[in-house]
Amino acid sequence: MIVQALKWIGDTDGFLELIDQRQLPGQFVKLQCRDTETLFDAIKTLAVRGAPAIGVSAAYGLVLAMQKLAAGNNLERGLKVLAESCEYLASSRPTAVNLFWALDRVRTKAEEIASAQPETKLQTLRQAVLDEANAICREDMDMCRQIGQNGQKYIKEDAGILTHCNAGALATAGQGTALSVMFEAHKKGRKFKVYADETRPLLQGARLTAWELKQAGIDVVVVCDNMAGWLMKQGLISAVITGADRIAANGDTANKIGTYGLSILAKEHGIPFYIAAPSSTFDLSIKSGAEIPIEQRAADEVTTFAGTRTAPDGVDVYNPAFDITESQDIAAIITEKGVIENPNTESIRELLRPNHA
Ligand code: MRU
Repeated sequence: MIVQALKWIGDTDGFLELIDQRQLPGQFVKLQCRDTETLFDAIKTLAVRGAPAIGVSAAYGLVLAMQKLAAGNNLERGLKVLAESCEYLASSRPTAVNLFWALDRVRTKAEEIASAQPETKLQTLRQAVLDEANAICREDMDMCRQIGQNGQKYIKEDAGILTHCNAGALATAGQGTALSVMFEAHKKGRKFKVYADETRPLLQGARLTAWELKQAGIDVVVVCDNMAGWLMKQGLISAVITGADRIAANGDTANKIGTYGLSILAKEHGIPFYIAAPSSTFDLSIKSGAEIPIEQRAADEVTTFAGTRTAPDGVDVYNPAFDITESQDIAAIITEKGVIENPNTESIRELLRPNHA
């Protein structure tokens, strides 16, 4: 049974139910988001996290935003609330492009309906917003499964796979991206071991990836982030597979801080480094990773551990949440549309072109 990170409950007056990932693995608690402010806070504080899950949640956030409208409000007012809410939710986190992609998609759909039929009732518009959010959610589930099926061949019998952060079901609406590859290889009966980097400072690997893989019955070993090089040197790692938060047109990829270092270590040891991500994670509007905004997070994530101070009061802290892995160091990007080996601007554009067979 693969866990469901998020679920819309009810109709246009419903709410978004999330697994509160801040509390895992100690407690399995559901969080109900009944307004955009609660959802904004859930995204910012990582109750819901992972690029695809943030995007799907934000799309449902627009359904919540439309609940604020009064019965007498007109279409123009509805579109204004939608636009303002897009701007508000988009300011929750800057790096994962799925957030902006999903908000734009829902807003564009609503605007198209309103301009094609100016007499559209507000309730019809609210329903259209929910329908589009549901479509994004369903598509994400399909994309996850397909990514797994496309990528499972890279996990050989008796492989040792290193992963970083959490790119599992908790990070998507479906069965994850990097972990989906593992779930599909496991389904095929292949035996392999996953090394899950603990992923400082917020421990998504130790808390979430290990939890998910253990539940799925996949052999998982938690390691500290600084152990990766030594694991590779000892011959324990046959491939590195991670997710992505944003992939530039040339294949440069933003993912959790520490991913770049893994790509360099993998290159040094001759180990293939794979990214698993849906097409919604590509940002073809930017040429390279240099243009990807990197989120900076609060100092206390680094200076405290489980509520205990681990660094002197007042010390300076640098806490970027993501880094950029260069395209040239990525053996392949595994998407739902297919696998892009040795990714570059041309091969990415070709795979993502709308009518790609
Ligand atoms: O800060 P987080 O936990 O949202 O970071 C998540 C990651 O870096 C994931 O690897 C990425 O979003 C891919 S999730 C399928």
